[in-house]
Amino acid sequence: MARPRAEHPRTKVTNLRLTEQERDEFEAKAAELGLKNVSEYIRFLHDVFAEKEQAEATTLAGYRKAYPASQIRNFHSTKHGEILWGDARSFLFNKAKPESVDLIMTSPPFGLVRKKSYGNEDADQYCDWFRPFAEGFKRVLKDSGSLVIDIGGAWVPGQPTRSLYHFKLLIMLVEEYGFHLCQEHYWWNPSKLPTPAEWVNVRRVRVKDAVNCVWWLSKTPYPKANNKRILQPYSKSMKHLLKNGYVAKLRPSGHDISEKFSKDNGGSVPPNLLAIANTESNGRYQDHCRNENIAIHPARFPSALPEYFMRFLTDPGDYVVDPFGGSCVTGAVAEALERKWTCCELSEEYLLGGKARFVPEVQPLEKKRDVAYDIAPPCAQPLNEADIPLFEDGGAKRPASLTKKSKASSEPKAQDRLSAS
Ligand SMILES: C[S@@+](CC[C@H](N)C(=O)[O-])C[C@H]1O[C@@H](n2cnc3c(N)ncnc32)[C@H](O)[C@@H]1O
Repeated sequence: MARPRAEHPRTKVTNLRLTEQERDEFEAKAAELGLKNVSEYIRFLHDVFAEKEQAEATTLAGYRKAYPASQIRNFHSTKHGEILWGDARSFLFNKAKPESVDLIMTSPPFGLVRKKSYGNEDADQYCDWFRPFAEGFKRVLKDSGSLVIDIGGAWVPGQPTRSLYHFKLLIMLVEEYGFHLCQEHYWWNPSKLPTPAEWVNVRRVRVKDAVNCVWWLSKTPYPKANNKRILQPYSKSMKHLLKNGYVAKLRPSGHDISEKFSKDNGGSVPPNLLAIANTESNGRYQDHCRNENIAIHPARFPSALPEYFMRFLTDPGDYVVDPFGGSCVTGAVAEALERKWTCCELSEEYLLGGKARFVPEVQPLEKKRDVAYDIAPPCAQPLNEADIPLFEDGGAKRPASLTKKSKASSEPKAQDRLSAS
């Protein structure tokens, strides 16, 4: 039987001149290690060396060497903060002081399956890509500080299943880098479009993906915090209860609701679901970008997201860092709340846009917060199940009405699909 071809056939020959003594020593060493010949011994040495180099590269010293201070520079300064243009790893390893940061508030490039203009990393390699940042965050964060990462989910290319990349990242940060998971939050964007249209609107086998995970982590189990800083207005029923009094009783869940429940604390403790529509399409930032023909950042988070964590976890004068600054939303919120701050960003274009948030000076944060969203209980829409059979193939094929033949007449245009519910 013919031998199978090696994946990487060894077709190159190199002459190696050795003294007689060297050759004897190499052969003896090879034999000692159970290797067949001098060639194998040299390959073995190379692997040992490469492994050592790799291990050194992922130490603090290695990172400091790999990401020199020269790879980042000042772009703009304000009363409380600075925008740095360049690689955040240079800031983390060579500019920031160790244990100097009270809050890292950030949204890294997501491991989306489709490359977007801000350069998403492939989901599978995401954790490896993130490692130097994880090490850098550990270096700069105070023991009392927090690391907050807003991260969107991703679909596996071509099928209606989800990537695990953001969960893997969380597990890596906790298990390998020693961060504590203080509490996961979920940012619900009520204005999110029903995408991917193919699974949600065409084949109808998945629902709208409308939450981002927000991992709140810390170096110790006890970062500073106070939820009284982020209370939400009482609901109508709670207001009624506070006004008219409450009869203490045991709840069906077994919780004993005492008289204390009717004390007005100025608001109720919010849940870890943050309802923030990301609809802002006009404003100084957007106007500036349009007027100057600068790309508007495609993955901005709404200012209420960093505001919530900044108020919850930092005091005025504390130091907030956003290593993946984008259009500097974090910087603008920190400036308005009088926290010291640094935003790093690789793309000059995003910074040219983001600078408008601070010139001539930062705008105060919006006071009006009266938008409330209804969340219907599951299955609130009455229907007859018999009229709506399940897709037994799980969406493996498009419904017959949408295949090529009938497509021209029946398939909605992409835009219609996005807006139909
Ligand atoms: C999801 S966006 C952040 C958007 C930002 N939160 C906002 O609201 O505008 C991630 C940003 O990280 C930037 N980025 C990626 N790698 C970086 C690095 N090594 N150093 C600095 N910025 C980086 C990308 O250019 C992108 O703008």
